[in-house]
Amino acid sequence: MRIINIVGARPNFMKIAPLMRAYTAHAEIEPLLIHTGQHYDHAMSRLFFDELGIPRPDLNLEVGSASHAVQTAEIMLRFEKVCLERVPDWVVVVGDVNSTVACGLVAVKLGIKLAHVEAGLRSFDRSMPEEVNRLLTDSISDLLFVTEDSGMRNLEQEGVAPAKVHLVGNVMIDTLLANREKADASRVLDDLGLDDRGFAALTLHRPSNVDDSAIFGGLLDAFEEIAVQMPIIFPAHPRTVKQIDSLGLGDRLSAIERLRVIDPLGYLDFLKLMAHARVVLTDSGGIQEETTILKVPCVTLRENTERPVTCDVGGNQLAGIDPERILEAYRKALTIVPEQIGTPPLWDGKAAERIAGLLAREA
Ligand code: UD1
Repeated sequence: MRIINIVGARPNFMKIAPLMRAYTAHAEIEPLLIHTGQHYDHAMSRLFFDELGIPRPDLNLEVGSASHAVQTAEIMLRFEKVCLERVPDWVVVVGDVNSTVACGLVAVKLGIKLAHVEAGLRSFDRSMPEEVNRLLTDSISDLLFVTEDSGMRNLEQEGVAPAKVHLVGNVMIDTLLANREKADASRVLDDLGLDDRGFAALTLHRPSNVDDSAIFGGLLDAFEEIAVQMPIIFPAHPRTVKQIDSLGLGDRLSAIERLRVIDPLGYLDFLKLMAHARVVLTDSGGIQEETTILKVPCVTLRENTERPVTCDVGGNQLAGIDPERILEAYRKALTIVPEQIGTPPLWDGKAAERIAGLLAREA
């Protein structure tokens, strides 16, 4: 059974790594790995392959950056040729990026079976590009692998046949657990002169947060207050760096003394940074999950989350974008006892094994 696996953007790499490894236990599966090239900077792509031991992609479609329509269309044009040449039995897509929906649509139009890893998550906010990608991908998938109970309920409500849906746990957490020890050896805290639990880690890249100067400015107001109490380390996504420049926020940012903008970190350095932070501030989806397992309080700079279990188990708070609410959530985060943060069911490091086992049954 030939399975084409798709990666495109940074958050896909940690999801595909354990799956590529899990396939090796199933001789009947012939996995191929295709990189769409949605992300292409060394720090956004290649570094993750090296650190996580992901096999070199069989092919890179090199689509690069463009508007949503152009990027999605370009991936579809190039991936259709690949499917026609390689004739896979299944295409496996992960997460919710443009590469996910583009390759999924190509597959089903050619009559190739489609599996979606991280299915069922819903923010119920269709202004988020990822929400549209999630809805579309799930609605055309033949197998849906779900990370948390909310995903099971969402798919049931959308009328997806229960036989297609499997609660398997979280492949992102497989990678985290497999790399924790390795990450311990990272020198990032020394390099940045940070004390254990003496700093906040920040990531920010959602268009809704970084494309509007009033919103981004409001976030900076909150960070300025927090930076009085502890340094904030901000590995900035290239998109965010461009926005800081084009919104003219560079001077305002550099005036906040203990807010340190640094280049994007690799997986191991960032894992170490998160694990030793007093609190993590983020608008990412995956980081809400990773902090849950690391038992580090997370303040999510969004009004909604497609990963509600991270709030239910006590580590994550939705703070939105209002500075006062962010500060309130930050203060509350400092009172959270790490041991009291729960672990969602099946986030045990074995999700990829379960998925590979279920796919092998289709052979
Ligand atoms: C994409 C995903 C988002 C995910 C994020 C993680 C979609 C719709 N969005 O957002 O869900 O959370 O990845 O990083 O798929 N750029 C570079 N170098 C790169 C890649 C991007 O400089 O290697 C810059 C370019 O200016 C580009 C911009 O980032 O235009 C946006 O890249 P894109 O892939 O369109 O979306 P992300 O914001 O990265």
